[in-house]
Amino acid sequence: MSCGNTANPTTSFNSTSEERLIELKNLVLKGLLPSDKDDLVLANGLNYHTVIKWGDKISDTDTFGFNNDFNCFIPFDDDNPKDGLLWVNHEYINPLFVSDFNYRDYENPSEYRTIAQVDKEMYNVGGSIVRINEENGQWKIVENDPHNRRITAKTPMQINWDTPIKGKTIFIGTHSNCSGGITPWKTFLTCEENYDSYFGETEYDEENVARHRPSKSGWESFYDYPPEHYGWVVEVNPKDGKAQKHIALGRFAHECCTLYELADKRVVAYTGDDHNSEHLYKFISSKPSSLKEGTLYVADTVNGKWLALDWVNQPILKEKFKDQTEVLIRAREAAKLLGATPLNRPEDIEIDPITGNIFVSLTNNYITKDFHGFILKIEEKNGAFDALTFKAETYKAGGEENGFSCPDNLAFDLSGNLWMTSDMSGSAMNKEGKPYMPFKNNSLFVIPRLGKDAGKVIRVASAPKDAELTGPWFSPDGKTLFLSVQHPGEQSKDLENLTSKWPFDEDNIPKPAVVAITGDLIEKMNKLNQIEV
Ligand code: FEO
Ligand code: CA
Ligand code: CA
Ligand code: CA
Repeated sequence: MSCGNTANPTTSFNSTSEERLIELKNLVLKGLLPSDKDDLVLANGLNYHTVIKWGDKISDTDTFGFNNDFNCFIPFDDDNPKDGLLWVNHEYINPLFVSDFNYRDYENPSEYRTIAQVDKEMYNVGGSIVRINEENGQWKIVENDPHNRRITAKTPMQINWDTPIKGKTIFIGTHSNCSGGITPWKTFLTCEENYDSYFGETEYDEENVARHRPSKSGWESFYDYPPEHYGWVVEVNPKDGKAQKHIALGRFAHECCTLYELADKRVVAYTGDDHNSEHLYKFISSKPSSLKEGTLYVADTVNGKWLALDWVNQPILKEKFKDQTEVLIRAREAAKLLGATPLNRPEDIEIDPITGNIFVSLTNNYITKDFHGFILKIEEKNGAFDALTFKAETYKAGGEENGFSCPDNLAFDLSGNLWMTSDMSGSAMNKEGKPYMPFKNNSLFVIPRLGKDAGKVIRVASAPKDAELTGPWFSPDGKTLFLSVQHPGEQSKDLENLTSKWPFDEDNIPKPAVVAITGDLIEKMNKLNQIEV
């Protein structure tokens, strides 16, 4: 357990209700300036402690994986928000730290991999379930709790579909798990994003002839798993760790999956494809609580229409694909045939708990020279989540004027303030350089809904060197913000030239970690809606 910034807020928050209302009305947040410090720096009124980091023991047999991205927390009991299960995605590995292999040493690195390295890497991706609880303001893992377990790139899982894919109904493992969501029936959703990094991809030429594009990691030299088994939304049962892949939600670089339950218990799932000029999708179930029976749609944001990826009723899809399963496996191609709008890398999606509007981070697109991205706002027709038409507009543009670049993860707090992280990737910063210099390290921002700062983008945390802050998730009482610090020190050339040493362990090795952020500023933000009363 390490403690971070413990800056005290300038005022305490224990006044009478009338004084508190005046204080909230006049609240002006003191944000941070851009920082290039190798530390997790927090604004006044926030503090953090580390909950778990890479390599920590979670049971007699398992350790916490690498590059944690999405976090979510489900309490055992709705009346006790301080004890429950934390799910954490482990998106990808840095072989320099995980498997003692430096890609920079080789011209064709995939030819030099060993099975021992690949096995270590496969163990360190996927996800972790850990029981955590809070005592005296400190969240801790309950070591050896029977719920604690790892899901890895070798964990067998079923598919929620009747047709086998590449001859199988049981797939091996999950990896590239970026963001996710939870279901109304309280299970975790974890999304397979850049899956082609590990087993490559099947690509089709103009004559519809398939060829295999190899991965950079070389995993397929040791394990012959079809690329078609990855690129799905995966559901994990917190209680027993059983996982299933949801084919009906399509196959692409899923960033996240955000669910809304309709009054009749049917579900609507929003999910984006984080790749240059790819698309935004939504699934509407035809049966209650189903992620199998229903229709997948893709967005035409120019005309405000959801277009059905429906092989039976779309002749243009029947011409190219042999059945609905092939449409779902090759969803990107099907979406383009229908006229879906190319978007600037859809990342996280959140539903505003106050207005019901849908917010989508479009992080950037070098092809269209959009370096800074923007947040898109979608209003479904008449506010109905199962509507097939909508209005779309820019809510907040990245760039120097608003003080952020490359929006990625989003989270609303109890008062409907929007919290957002940025992801200017290390490789992009090296390649594109100049546009990103004013912003310095990746950060966490809040956009207050009400009060004097309403609509402003305020930087409240700055990440260690090369890191990205990911997976913001509020505890059910709104008092804790769980946040991942992912890939600190990612641009290190070798172990002698580390760009970050966060979290400053004795071995100096940078480690991804989940932190719990608490403090007066979060409490005030959660109470901001009182000024409407
Ligand atoms: Fe893994 Fe789209 O971020
Ligand atoms: Ca992301
Ligand atoms: Ca989110
Ligand atoms: Ca990103």
